[in-house]
Amino acid sequence: MTVEPLWNTDHPPRQGLGLMRLRDTGDADADRDPAAVVHAALDLGINVLDTAEMYGNEELVGRTIAGRRDEVTLCTKFGVRWVGSEDFSVHADAASVVASCEGSLRRLGVDTIDLYYLHHRSEDTPIEETVTAMADLIDAGKIRAIGLSNVTEEDVRRAHAVHPVFAVQEQWSLTSRSVEPMLPTLAERDVVLVAHSPTGHGVLHRSTGTSLGAALADIADAHGVAAGTVALAWIHEQGRRRGQRILPLPGTTSVNHLRANVSAADLHLDDAQFDRLTSADPT
Ligand SMILES: NC(=O)c1ccc[n+]([C@@H]2O[C@H](COP(=O)([O-])OP(=O)(O)OC[C@H]3O[C@@H](n4cnc5c(N)ncnc54)[C@H](OP(=O)(O)O)[C@@H]3O)[C@@H](O)[C@H]2O)c1
Repeated sequence: MTVEPLWNTDHPPRQGLGLMRLRDTGDADADRDPAAVVHAALDLGINVLDTAEMYGNEELVGRTIAGRRDEVTLCTKFGVRWVGSEDFSVHADAASVVASCEGSLRRLGVDTIDLYYLHHRSEDTPIEETVTAMADLIDAGKIRAIGLSNVTEEDVRRAHAVHPVFAVQEQWSLTSRSVEPMLPTLAERDVVLVAHSPTGHGVLHRSTGTSLGAALADIADAHGVAAGTVALAWIHEQGRRRGQRILPLPGTTSVNHLRANVSAADLHLDDAQFDRLTSADPT
């Protein structure tokens, strides 16, 4: 089975923008205006925009991209619902897949979702059922590609045997390394690894008093950038060094922070810097 490429493979996107925290706050600060953040991203060539049914902001995202839909690779996720404010449940059966997709299309105000992710593996529904329902959505023109998030390597193998998976989205940062054993499985199948929370939910933008913090500070000084930019550059460097399709997905609600994050794609770390970061103790 062939999959329609979501983006030009000669010029793949270098970074995505996570919209999990995007809210219409009514804040007068232009730097924090959600539409300004999204438009600045598109102007800088950052067009992979990532939201989720669970983030509660699909309508805002839809309004924001309305005039520029053609420029955006629109990604959203289904299947996770809040239970109270702390816990969540997973709904990945075929009927839920269809209902969730209809809801996201309506809230986003679009005819097609470019990349549709299962947000979290289900203990109840076999992944084959979920992916078969997602493949039917491709056939119906409602989504263009299948993604998985918060899954195991075995889930990826089983899902990919039903229909090619375009991307797997997992947390990856200098403080969260558990995805690394899965990378060869993704590379073998040419699945993009979308590295979410690449600064550990923002922790790596602050000084941490650890040997990792010291390494980030030294390398940041050497390049004249902020420590968080170096942490993000380490993910970009991973993609270059492995020759693997890795898309860092930082999130921000600030135009200025967005600019700093985008600059990380051009920040090259030498071997000594890369090795020091890779082996630094984050605790
Ligand atoms: N699949 C999943 O289960 C899952 C889970 C979590 C996240 N995600 C995705 O990953 C995206 C990113 O996740 P995340 O937001 O948790 O992690 P992150 O990108 O590692 O960190 C974001 C935090 O860092 C701050 N920040 C960003 N750039 C900064 C800069 N240049 N200087 C100083 N502070 C900066 C942000 O605040 P400001 O807004 O003030 O910049 C925010 O508090 C989400 O938007 C979502 O799309 C997916």
